[in-house]
Amino acid sequence: MKQLDVKTYGEPILRGSATRVDRFDEELANLAQGMIETMIAERGIGLAAPQVGVGKRLVIALQMKDIDDSGASPLVLVNPEITAVSKETWSYEEGCLSLPGISGDVIRPSEIDVTYQDLDGTKRQLTADGMFGRILQHEIDHLDGKLFIDYLSSANKSLAKSKLKQLTQNKHLF
Ligand code: NI
Repeated sequence: MKQLDVKTYGEPILRGSATRVDRFDEELANLAQGMIETMIAERGIGLAAPQVGVGKRLVIALQMKDIDDSGASPLVLVNPEITAVSKETWSYEEGCLSLPGISGDVIRPSEIDVTYQDLDGTKRQLTADGMFGRILQHEIDHLDGKLFIDYLSSANKSLAKSKLKQLTQNKHLF
């Protein structure tokens, strides 16, 4: 399987709203497999379909307990929805394959309940906390055009903005 092209900041699809998946066919399975291979090759810990230019509600996430959990396997979630969040929150410095070179502290709920479908279309649900819960929130945000930089404080945002400018300028140059 050929590695998929990861879209970076400035590509309109990263700000769009992805559409629900209603066909659970081989094409969908191939997309998920390609995303997993691309994520691993890029040393990512999660990936959403819009990041590879596909506006569908599909994400993959490593089921990591913490950031040092190197043996975590990827989970494919189709049409994922967060149905409940904990009051308790925690902060962690996030990055994104679509925003290379940029990172920032993001506060998110510690635990979430998620409903989703697997690649066969079977409805499932899970409760996720720790790094896995955070990755899922980050990836599900991508499906609605939301990026982690949207959560940064205004000071950190302006810092990130100058780097983002370079990113979009480079895009036009090369
Ligand atoms: Ni991301």
